[in-house]
Amino acid sequence: MNRPSAYQAPNGNLVWHHHPVDQARRAELKGQRPALLWFTGLSASGKSTLAGALEQVLTDQGYHTYLLDGDNVRHGLCADLGFSDADRTENIRRVGQVARLLTDAGLIVLASFISPFRADRQRVRDILPDGQFIEVFMDVPLDICRRRDPKGLYGRAERGEIRQFTGIDSPYEPPESPEVRIEAGRISIPQGVNQLLDDLNRRGLLGAGCRLTKPAGRRHAPQF
Ligand code: ADX
Repeated sequence: MNRPSAYQAPNGNLVWHHHPVDQARRAELKGQRPALLWFTGLSASGKSTLAGALEQVLTDQGYHTYLLDGDNVRHGLCADLGFSDADRTENIRRVGQVARLLTDAGLIVLASFISPFRADRQRVRDILPDGQFIEVFMDVPLDICRRRDPKGLYGRAERGEIRQFTGIDSPYEPPESPEVRIEAGRISIPQGVNQLLDDLNRRGLLGAGCRLTKPAGRRHAPQF
């Protein structure tokens, strides 16, 4: 693994060690091009649902993946963190580092985190090799997320039972130029998956023809 240019040695006693097996070799064995798909958006915007659906299609087609999910990671690696601005920044720093290691292992990584701050997302982009960070913005208006409220958290935040809830009393900074924008309030899950597959195809990250076989946009296609 080459040392990312964004990495500084924390002190003069540490020297980066170059090992003979690198990302290209690991990826070659898997027959794929590694990438980090970073899903950002409000709670209930459909990040985890879409990431999970995409991962299912990718693994069905033989790709090697890993899905990092905010709620799940906060049960373990980040169980010591809360939702202050500083804790969210630390959450995204840790997860970004894990995601980078997993992409270095040759995997296609899907990360689903609110990640409300632009600077935190930019720091993750900066430690990935060029072209491997794909920001996927779940562009869903707050009103729709509040109405959906699948976990009842918006209701609790509005009643003052949860503090620092994103969109209520904690900010969300939308990406300015994400690689992919998904209007999850308007399209079905299969349509969202196909939009992502098309984009990954265009970037040469997937072999041609990686598509959902079921037609997208059927009347009864599952919705976000
Ligand atoms: S992040 O802001 O640090 O990126 P992360 O994606 O890990 O957040 O976790 C968000 C999840 O934690 C939400 O899906 C929600 O279920 C839960 N949650 C609990 N409290 C909060 C809160 N105050 N703000 C946002 N999400 C919260």
